[in-house]
Amino acid sequence: MNLLILGGTRFIGRHLTVAALEAGFEVTLFNRNRGGVRFSEVETLVGDRHGDLSALKGRTWDAVIDTSAYTPGAARRTAELLQNAVSYYTFVSTVSVYRDFAQSGMDEDAPVSTVTDEEVADVETTSRSESTGASYGRLYGPLKARCEEAVKEAFPGRALVVRPGLVVGPYDYTDRFTYWVRRVGLAGKGLGTEVLAPGKPERRVQFIDARDLAAWTLKATVAGMTGTFNATGPDYALSFGAFLETSRRALNPEAELMWVDDAFLIERSVEAGDLMPWHPVEAMPGWERFYELDTGKALKSGLTFRPLTETLRDTFAWDQTRQGDEPLKAGLTAEREAALLGAWRAESRV
Ligand SMILES: NC(=O)c1ccc[n+]([C@@H]2O[C@H](COP(=O)([O-])OP(=O)(O)OC[C@H]3O[C@@H](n4cnc5c(N)ncnc54)[C@H](OP(=O)(O)O)[C@@H]3O)[C@@H](O)[C@H]2O)c1
Repeated sequence: MNLLILGGTRFIGRHLTVAALEAGFEVTLFNRNRGGVRFSEVETLVGDRHGDLSALKGRTWDAVIDTSAYTPGAARRTAELLQNAVSYYTFVSTVSVYRDFAQSGMDEDAPVSTVTDEEVADVETTSRSESTGASYGRLYGPLKARCEEAVKEAFPGRALVVRPGLVVGPYDYTDRFTYWVRRVGLAGKGLGTEVLAPGKPERRVQFIDARDLAAWTLKATVAGMTGTFNATGPDYALSFGAFLETSRRALNPEAELMWVDDAFLIERSVEAGDLMPWHPVEAMPGWERFYELDTGKALKSGLTFRPLTETLRDTFAWDQTRQGDEPLKAGLTAEREAALLGAWRAESRV
């Protein structure tokens, strides 16, 4: 297969590229060449989703996998440009497209959130250099929903929409999952033995290893699957408590979990977004069931998951190879965590 990947050098895209090369595909990448990994054996076309797309002109591919569109304009311009040059379009969207998460077990038919034409116009004109979902804040989900529409319009009957949940694993530049892996892995070995575990251990969590997502997305693309799929894991009901216990057992049994309740943390301005997948449901109206999506459709179509212990160990090993002492982008600093644990004990809530 002759495959074009829009993106392909950072996190999900990087794993897609690796999986495609391992499958023996001829791969072309399109990105700005801004510091992601360089695949020496792969042709890279340089351009910008918000600017120059000329490198894509006059070429043909069997399929394209789009990991880098965040605005409807960016999605529409490439989809229209590639309409007659590519047989099939896979768009990497997000579960954040849904209007709300009030119900457990929502499938792909749940309503998506909307954005006004004025808001879209504003984003298209003011965010031209932006390139991550975080840049779009509350509009991230509804903008991705509009991107999905743009792709489906340009490729009717030839488009696959993949909606991943929280994606984790090696090369995750957001540090959200890596925070827990590092925190538990280094407990008593440079970090405090006692690990602040937020909220209730029985709460559900969902996430997917980027390598499992990449493998399935590639398989679905090769098979020419169409339609929309929630893509998150695992294929059993995993709780936050089981996730952290498994981390402890897999990485460092010395770690001791100290569960601290939601209200205490919220009162002290700890943000749910900093400790994902902590999900203090009472403080998140409309988002209560975010980690309870129905993934049956993707499972039936062949989505599989490696064991959690493998994701944990590989992420820990990758994190240990990272250079420098840059603070993680997510989680609590050691000082903040110690202060919170001290205050929690002092209030005799344990
Ligand atoms: N990470 C998650 O947990 C998560 C969850 C759900 C959905 N998703 C979706 O998954 C997709 C991939 O996310 P990711 O975080 O893994 O990103 P990624 O694929 O790791 O990185 C983005 C890629 O796109 C390229 N790129 C970014 N802006 C560009 C632009 N303006 N023009 C051309 N190329 C550009 C980057 O290369 P250059 O910088 O060199 O241009 C890089 O190769 C996103 O669409 C996101 O909405 C992610």
